Amino acid sequence: MRRLWRWFLVAFVWRAATETEDDGSERPPRIVPDGPPSPRAELVVVALLILAALSAVGFIVVYALDRLPYQTQWMGIALGCAFALLAAALIVTAHHLVVTEELEDEYGSPQPEVAAQVAQVVSESGSRLRRRRLLAATAGIATTAIGLAAIVPAASLGPIYDLNRFTRTPWRRGRRLVDQHGRPIPAAAIHTQELFTAFPEHGDPEEISAPVVLLRLEPDQLHLPKGRSGWAVDGIVAYSKICTHAGCAISLYRTPLFPPVDEPPGLVCPCHYSTFDPQTGGTVVYGPAGRPLPQLPLMVDRRGHLRAAGDYSGPVGPSWWGVRNRKAWS
Ligand code: FES
Repeated sequence: MRRLWRWFLVAFVWRAATETEDDGSERPPRIVPDGPPSPRAELVVVALLILAALSAVGFIVVYALDRLPYQTQWMGIALGCAFALLAAALIVTAHHLVVTEELEDEYGSPQPEVAAQVAQVVSESGSRLRRRRLLAATAGIATTAIGLAAIVPAASLGPIYDLNRFTRTPWRRGRRLVDQHGRPIPAAAIHTQELFTAFPEHGDPEEISAPVVLLRLEPDQLHLPKGRSGWAVDGIVAYSKICTHAGCAISLYRTPLFPPVDEPPGLVCPCHYSTFDPQTGGTVVYGPAGRPLPQLPLMVDRRGHLRAAGDYSGPVGPSWWGVRNRKAWS
């Protein structure tokens, strides 16, 4: 079967490469003068189109491998070459394969016979082409490959099927919060007007859902969403450290020094300045983030160390298609 397919392919390419335009039918008198064939230009166009297709396929391969050094640069080079080669093929076609004829005439009301003449002019302008099928096939391959290269990056918008891995986190009820050196964090060590970063004990700190920010607020200023009344410990609240806009680390804390007149506290992402209100459950008060920071419920053990009282209120990290349908968050 494979051999049959190979023979079919060879026969098609051979037929496309050797076929000519003469089908023996009667044609009206020419308007555009017949142009001399240019087999070399045709082969150059075919070669350019094939190279354009290969460049576009190269883009897809580099994108799919996703582990090459300088991946972005290679993708840019591959896509740039694909477009440049396609443009070169069109330029060679225009200059060497299309008969150019300028006919000046009065611009009158549309007439059917004039429209037919225009169609004939367009058709006859390709009189220099002898391998139309081969050129059409390579042009189709090149444009399909470039089209695919343009569509493939849409896969980065997020997975469609296995979404569960985005909602798995290392946080469980009873898991201790530790600092970057793995030391447990006493609740008494969290002071107002300071921002702390914590991780799950024995967890992988590199995991996107691992780091949380801890801060102490005035308990009477907390207005957490319904169902989260017990999520804070003496005003200490914990939120995912990963911004829900594009995944930068929340590293700025706007804290009021003169509460009656200052802005309320805010967790600020330094990338595009999304600002989240820690008093109201991490709701977005400014910036491009589209959903709140996920909150982690807290409790204190007998030794006064902070522990998780459960999992996050919602999916961690940048949003993806359907993120709002996963696990309730408010
Ligand atoms: S990544 Fe945080 S605001 Fe854009």
